[in-house]
Amino acid sequence: MRVATTLNRIGACAALLLLGVPTAQRADAQAWDAVKYFKYNIENVTVAPDVVAPGGGYTVRVMFSVTDPTNGGAAWDIKSAAPFQYRYPPPPETATISARLTLNIGWDPSSDFFNTGSANAALNAVQSTLPGTAAAMVVQVNNLHTAAGSQPCTAAACPGVADLTNRYWVERTVTPVPFGRATVTHGRVAIEGRPVCNGLVECAVTPNANIPVTSATADFAFHPANPQAAMVANPRRQVVDIAKCMGCHDGGPHGDTTVPRLSLHGGNRNQNLDVCVMCHNANQTDVPYRYFAADPRISGPETAVDFKTMVHSIHAGGFRETPFVVIGRGSSINDYSDVRFPSTLRNCLNCHVENGGKGSYELPLNASVLGTTTATGSVYNVPSGTMRSIDVNPANDVKTSPTAAVCSSCHDKAEVRSHMTRRGGASFSTTQSAIGVTVRERCASCHGPGKDKDVKKVHEVGRSGTSSDAHDD
Ligand code: HEC
Ligand code: HEC
Ligand code: HEC
Ligand code: HEC
Ligand code: HEC
Repeated sequence: MRVATTLNRIGACAALLLLGVPTAQRADAQAWDAVKYFKYNIENVTVAPDVVAPGGGYTVRVMFSVTDPTNGGAAWDIKSAAPFQYRYPPPPETATISARLTLNIGWDPSSDFFNTGSANAALNAVQSTLPGTAAAMVVQVNNLHTAAGSQPCTAAACPGVADLTNRYWVERTVTPVPFGRATVTHGRVAIEGRPVCNGLVECAVTPNANIPVTSATADFAFHPANPQAAMVANPRRQVVDIAKCMGCHDGGPHGDTTVPRLSLHGGNRNQNLDVCVMCHNANQTDVPYRYFAADPRISGPETAVDFKTMVHSIHAGGFRETPFVVIGRGSSINDYSDVRFPSTLRNCLNCHVENGGKGSYELPLNASVLGTTTATGSVYNVPSGTMRSIDVNPANDVKTSPTAAVCSSCHDKAEVRSHMTRRGGASFSTTQSAIGVTVRERCASCHGPGKDKDVKKVHEVGRSGTSSDAHDD
């Protein structure tokens, strides 16, 4: 059963490509032992103010390094060191897999991520015959380790960076657009990607494997007091604690399941939820790899990949009535219906944090939490290779009001959904501008703290299946 699932998740296409390849050389092999040699650091962020108002861009410059904690924190020369150069398969074959190092810029961590305007400030649909375009993507700069990908720091180019050795900078002009209740005040940058296992002791056993280095993030203000030092403390509310996730996601057995470490997207995005939420935001769906196909799951309606719904649905395989399926890279079919949570699912504290006695899972939601998109309005159900049109304007998205989105990601029965609309004032087919205006969720009046059907009480949080028994079975 687990094997079938794994193949399913890899996807027929990728599985075929891997057939003739020795295990140690597979593109998805991961060299966890070599992670210890690498640390991504964001050293400073500057913001050139909006000089072409109105609607002008902000030039965000990011200064960064990759250091080696086993070598006194010395910085790697990412332009020539072996782990950043080696390509698989080795020459003369044409390489498709190589080291990756990417900068992401997203907004707004002070309310909820939405990244509106990242593709174009006019919010025109993105037309392409190629798959891969997402509706609410971060701005990305790829291949920072190549000659053109980033520049070496000089004192003038990198204010505030004391040691310039093997420090680099990269910049992009972004034009963030406010969306829903939020205005854009803050942004987040991330350095993510994976070197290739080459030239290190550990690499003798796992040549060419990806090294899933922990992603790094930093937050900044678009209107900082000092534009030469725009970094600020993380302004986003904390909802879950990755240490709790890692209690299971340690690569070891939990119950009947070996739970993989939190390394997703080909080893590029690792062990840092602050990077996941930049893309897994309320406006994001799995539209990038959907197209017309014999398998109706691929041509079918989009699946939200909003973190506040996706993570619940993945773990609720044993509770949901309908399978939770995400179409991933290469149109792989990721069906999570066989996932069995190796702890008590209703104990929200398996993942959530408490602040001053109130759980982040309790109602009401923070007012800035956006509704979850279930249809972006994109045209994707067309044959592979023909023009697709990805709608990047969230204002016309079909949304589920936010509390109903959260609760229905586990409680997916039709009658419970109709309870949410009839008793609770929720909608599964609305727009962001209607939420809080004509669509007013009343859930907290019965499920709020101290109420008759208090979320904490009905899930018996703290009574049994506490977080400490998350992995003792
Ligand atoms: C009690 C154990 C447990 C906890 C706690 C837990 N998970 Fe999981 N998670 C699992 C299991 C089991 C799977 C399914 C693994 C499989 O079948 O390959 C899974 C799967 C996943 C997947 C899908 C992985 C993939 O390869 O597609 C993601 C993403 C994920 N979890 C994220 C999280 C996050 C984020 C947290 C914390 C907020 C968390 N998990 C907490 C047990 C847990
Ligand atoms: C740069 C944007 C981006 C980042 C960062 C990102 N994701 Fe994703 N993720 C997506 C998109 C878009 C999809 C929808 C499928 C696709 O297009 O690949 C997705 C799909 C997924 C899926 C569904 C299965 C699959 O593999 O496609 C899982 C699970 C997942 N992401 C987990 C994570 C976790 C956990 C993190 C953080 C460690 C993360 N993602 C970081 C954009 C991102
Ligand atoms: C497997 C881990 C996991 C479990 C178990 C879990 N959650 Fe969550 N929950 C998440 C993640 C991940 C998010 C999104 C985190 C983020 O946006 O930073 C989330 C978000 C939420 C939010 C939105 C909070 C906000 O401020 O955006 C609510 C409400 C919520 N969960 C309720 C619950 C309830 C109720 C339970 C228990 C019945 C529960 N969750 C169990 C992982 C989990
Ligand atoms: C992570 C999955 C998950 C999320 C998210 C979640 N629940 Fe639950 N909920 C459960 C489970 C599991 C039970 C126990 C059901 C059982 O034992 O049959 C439960 C039970 C309940 C019950 C008691 C009803 C009964 O049949 O026992 C209520 C009421 C409830 N949930 C409301 C909510 C509300 C409101 C939200 C959103 C704020 C929510 N739940 C979010 C998993 C979840
Ligand atoms: C007028 C009070 C009231 C309001 C408002 C209300 N609920 Fe409920 N809800 C209840 C009661 C009563 C139950 C049944 C609890 C039980 O079986 O123990 C329930 C049950 C539930 C369940 C669990 C159903 C099951 O059997 O699995 C969920 C999930 C839920 N409500 C979500 C919501 C959401 C989301 C909203 C807002 C959109 C909402 N409710 C608004 C009173 C309310």
